[in-house]
Amino acid sequence: MPRKLFITTALPYANAPFHLGHFMEYIQADIWVRFQRLQGHKVHFICADDAHGAPIMLNAEKQGLTPEKLVEKVTSERVGDLSKFNLSFDHWYSTHSPENVALLHDIYKKLKANKLIISREIEQFYDPVKGMFLADRYIKGICPKCGAKDQYGDSCEVCGAVYAPTDLKSPYSAITGAKPVLKKSEHFFFKLSDKRSAKFLNEWVANTPLQSEVKNKLAEWLGDGGKNLNDWDISRDAPYFGIELPDAPGKYFYVWMDAPVGYLASLKNYFESGKAKLNGEARSFDEFLADDEVEQYHFIGKDIIYFHTLFWPAMLHFAGRKVPNNVFVHGFIGFSGEKMSKSRGTGVSPQAYLKLGLNPEWLRYYIAAKLNDRVEDLDFNPDDFVARVNSDLIGKYVNIASRAAGFISKKFEGKLAKPQLPPDIAKEFAAAAPEIATCYDGREFGKAIRKIMALADLANQYVDANKPWELAKNEDRQSELHTVCSTCISMFRDLTVYLAPVLPQLAANAGEMFNFNAGDWKALTKLLPAGHEIKPYKHLMTRIDPKQMDALLEPALEATKEAKASAKADSKSSEHAEAANSEFALVPPETPKPVVIQPINETISIDDFGRIDLRVAKILDAELVVEADKLLKLTLDLGIETRTVFAGIRSAYNPKDLVGRLTVTVANLAPRKMRFGESQGMVLAAGDGTGIYLLSADSGAVPGMRIK
Ligand code: MSP
Ligand code: ZN
Repeated sequence: MPRKLFITTALPYANAPFHLGHFMEYIQADIWVRFQRLQGHKVHFICADDAHGAPIMLNAEKQGLTPEKLVEKVTSERVGDLSKFNLSFDHWYSTHSPENVALLHDIYKKLKANKLIISREIEQFYDPVKGMFLADRYIKGICPKCGAKDQYGDSCEVCGAVYAPTDLKSPYSAITGAKPVLKKSEHFFFKLSDKRSAKFLNEWVANTPLQSEVKNKLAEWLGDGGKNLNDWDISRDAPYFGIELPDAPGKYFYVWMDAPVGYLASLKNYFESGKAKLNGEARSFDEFLADDEVEQYHFIGKDIIYFHTLFWPAMLHFAGRKVPNNVFVHGFIGFSGEKMSKSRGTGVSPQAYLKLGLNPEWLRYYIAAKLNDRVEDLDFNPDDFVARVNSDLIGKYVNIASRAAGFISKKFEGKLAKPQLPPDIAKEFAAAAPEIATCYDGREFGKAIRKIMALADLANQYVDANKPWELAKNEDRQSELHTVCSTCISMFRDLTVYLAPVLPQLAANAGEMFNFNAGDWKALTKLLPAGHEIKPYKHLMTRIDPKQMDALLEPALEATKEAKASAKADSKSSEHAEAANSEFALVPPETPKPVVIQPINETISIDDFGRIDLRVAKILDAELVVEADKLLKLTLDLGIETRTVFAGIRSAYNPKDLVGRLTVTVANLAPRKMRFGESQGMVLAAGDGTGIYLLSADSGAVPGMRIK
């Protein structure tokens, strides 16, 4: 039975060009989608622009544009990028659309009818000059703990302290510089704390084959039976670029409420524009979504798991709609070991890649070769890129065709003899088909590529063992030559079919040249027949010229060097600000700050000091905090107990580098409740605004030792 699949990738913010991270996600999804289509399944592959939110509004204003104009400008500049990477989306729409308004209003009304929407007054900082409430990241001030200037409203990048914006000394608006005032306002909340929400989410998590990393995260977020769930603030006050609440003028839906609904809005537009019908789906949008057999999957990055596994399924469920069958989460792509940063220009620009005429399928192949089904970061490494493309893709796969096809054309009028696979090779090829299919279906693309390349190795061994170039010289062995080359073409056909989801263009060209259907998985176990005609061989793919790579990498390497040299602590360009919203255009890269040595504090007594219980702690585990991009969650061994501590040291340390390290902690600090859990202490670090330097203990110290 063909499966019916509704597939999406995350809706990219429409305030900047695509970056490599976007293409990695699209390539991952596209390979999966193409594979499913080749198995005869029916796929509707959908995306849209995420047009709403405060950053887009403020960014537009800065450029003297309306938000609509900014979105239009950005999206028109991206036109063509998707098709150049051979991404086979069936439809691309926008969250700023009538369909999205109608669907969101409908969902909201049903949630409200289900008594899952409440409103209450909250007090929040407000910029009186701008006339706007300020999210944490738009408030700056002096750190209440160390006195560092210009720190954000949620945590200090100098000492790592975590606090509420109201704790800041001399707070000011990052937008106008004005002194913010506390102001009350009515906000609307989705009652995620409701017993029904907890019950549903527990069940959804239990019944969904989520990746284990995602399951673990959810166990933490839900807490025992869902006790950690808090109500979700879904409204924002005007001015805001978004969708207004139907029953509260001047109140807008928070962008993360309307963004996932955009998946449905885009699907609806796809149906109503007649495109679904052209794609073989004659039913209406509502009928399609009411079909239990339709499977809905979202491909997303690890920074937005929260929104897709808690709010989104709950919204859908309590609005009486189909919930996702799964979300497929990938890690982040970095560049030569560095995190990519848009504002600093590090990383590889996909636009430059295309402009320099680099083959888009090289990138598809490279990314495929590095992907697996886990939530794991991957690295774009230029040397590795060149090696994989030149030695594997060209050296192993394309070579088989170029070595065999010339003889067929020159000596045998372009017609094959009956291919004869040696039995051991035939066995391997036959066994590979289901294995490779399982890899593709399970998003183990790296594994699939390794298996395909192992088959290519066998084919090359076959060529080397039979030496067609020597057979060619011997008049008596022409029939052998004919068979060997024909066998090569038949093996090449199989390899091409296997690679078709990754390299659709190359596969199509090869199919056209050698007169086979590169999409025909059913042909895999059959050899090409005697008499099969092929066209003369033309180059299928060139090698990467290192000069092209140099041109691509020059700006990226420069920027990486600068980024490394500039303050380590500058994390303002971090890839996902609170709520994963993009703030890049708003905060220009900063020049390194000079070191400021602060004056010594007032004198305290030895007894005062003795009240602080400092201990040696061993870092057992360190991980990113999805909702707070400046923090790391540390698990500390204090000898007699383990503690969880949230530390604002993300900008300076990679979590994996910290594991196993000894450091110093304040063991008797009152615990502090935070949105994502309780922080049970503090680790000590030096800092002056240019960096964060975690303290360590000399070797020999053991966890729990008192520091006096
Ligand atoms: N607009 C939201 C998504 C709303 S979905 C209803 C958003 N947009 S985004 O443009 O910031 O990110 C789009 C996708 O790109 C996300 O899945 C995100 O995880 C992914 N990536 C962003 N940077 C990335 C890398 N460096 N590497 C891989 N994927 C990355 O979030
Ligand atoms: Zn501080």
